[in-house]
Amino acid sequence: MSFKEKVIYQIYPKSFLDTNQDGVGDLAGIKQKLPYLQQLGVDMIWLNPVYVSPQKDNGYDIADYKSVNPLFGSMEGLEELIFAAQELKIDIMFDMVLNHVSTEHIWFQKALAGEKKYQDYFILRDQPTDWVSKFGGNAWAPFGDTGNYYLHLFDKTQADLNWRNPELREELYEVVRFWMDKGVKGFRFDVINLIGKDEELKDCAENDGKPAYTDRPINHEYLRDLNQATYGADSEIITVGEMSATSIPECILYTKPERHELNMTFNFHHLKVDYVDGKKWTQMPFDFTRLKELFHTWGTQMSEENGWNALFWNNHDQPRALNRFVDVDNYRVEGAKMLASAIHLNRGTPYIYMGEEIGMVDPDFTSMDQYVDVESLNAYQEMLDAGKSEVDAFEIVKAKSRDNSRTPMQWSSEKYSGFSTVNPWISVGKTANEINVAKELQEGSIFSYYQKLIRLRKDYPLIAEGSYEAFLPDHPQIYGYLRRLGKESLLVINNFFPQETTIEIPDEFLTGKILINNYEDEVIDKNIQLKPYQSIAIYCD
Ligand code: GLC
Ligand code: CA
Repeated sequence: MSFKEKVIYQIYPKSFLDTNQDGVGDLAGIKQKLPYLQQLGVDMIWLNPVYVSPQKDNGYDIADYKSVNPLFGSMEGLEELIFAAQELKIDIMFDMVLNHVSTEHIWFQKALAGEKKYQDYFILRDQPTDWVSKFGGNAWAPFGDTGNYYLHLFDKTQADLNWRNPELREELYEVVRFWMDKGVKGFRFDVINLIGKDEELKDCAENDGKPAYTDRPINHEYLRDLNQATYGADSEIITVGEMSATSIPECILYTKPERHELNMTFNFHHLKVDYVDGKKWTQMPFDFTRLKELFHTWGTQMSEENGWNALFWNNHDQPRALNRFVDVDNYRVEGAKMLASAIHLNRGTPYIYMGEEIGMVDPDFTSMDQYVDVESLNAYQEMLDAGKSEVDAFEIVKAKSRDNSRTPMQWSSEKYSGFSTVNPWISVGKTANEINVAKELQEGSIFSYYQKLIRLRKDYPLIAEGSYEAFLPDHPQIYGYLRRLGKESLLVINNFFPQETTIEIPDEFLTGKILINNYEDEVIDKNIQLKPYQSIAIYCD
């Protein structure tokens, strides 16, 4: 099965299921829930980092690439998980953080101790540039008492690696091969479009310095090299690159099959349509016109140029999409299904973030003490320093924090949502009694809707392989698209609003059949009146 037909489920291990009652999710918990994932129908699970790490950035600060963090279990436990998943035809995707390591990594420690070999693993300069760290503050920190500075595009405990050094590159390839040998079949490469830094690093006042280090030409060379040295020869391996502040032309280059870089890319433009002036720590209602424009330009151009998108609404870095794009108090269920249809029938590989399949929402925290995430804590402080009141700053953190998606999976209405029997590392969301897996499987309809969407992608090659065209691009409420493959066509219409609206169906679809619909009515007329958040897909051949 090609990666175009697959659906990938993302698990944030810390928050999935705690089996040894220490308040932290673990590998054994994931293993225990494999039948649930099999029931959903997903092909692969992407695990956020489970390596040894001081957890300053929840595992994205790796101190040892080849060991499992005891917090999550053991290497043996991981091997058992990989094996048990394979038995159910589910593969494991690992998160490869190759742009930076924790400052506790032995390489950084040896570099600090003066070993030249390891100093050349990092990006050291005697003069910092003006680049801003993605987690706030300048992106350079003093390198011990040497008078030099090391680059950290993220937290100061995450030191950027020097990919210009072939020895360093070989070490990283060795890491990828190590996990391939363990049976890992997928790799998600963290901020992989930032690995290629220029030889000469220059000040850049624009956009916090991003243009100076993002999507540099050499980045493609490194990816081809990585491909060749590791997963390139194994057609079963699936790769996805997380691309920070990227562009369509770059993502086409990263994913065009004949370039041998990656299978697909994540980009985040569609999740910035509720940012004021592109700034995350602000609040505004989402801009639907912008959202639609982005989907259409990415969809069309990737389709025309044979690139491939990873499709998603949620992940561990985003607040829950339901709170951002849907009137969640009145239409949670309809909205959840509509959002799902909008991407699962689209051209690209869909990702489901844990809890999305039961319509989980933001946790509704009431105090700053409940937040754990380093980025959120820094942002709160920066907003206060900039003169915002505590109340205003809190409201923004509440809407924007990554912790919104990192709360424990809501399994049942038991205490701590069935995630653990002890107080979890991060508070459980307020809705756990109403929104949970046990209840959803008994009386809900979102989970079964996801099952159906996953099935459709496998039953209709058109969904996996078809081209993409915009439908009604100027409609104020509808995000619609057409998929075509040979004689077959699919029309997907999504009403993104709580207001009804009427649209005209192209003649070719009047005799078509409805593949999926989030309301009961099943007739196709020339004019269809769409209900709040209604989504319909009509197929004809
Ligand atoms: C990616 C990860 C995010 C992490 C950052 C630094 O964006 O998804 O969680 O903080 O990279 O590794
Ligand atoms: Ca545990």
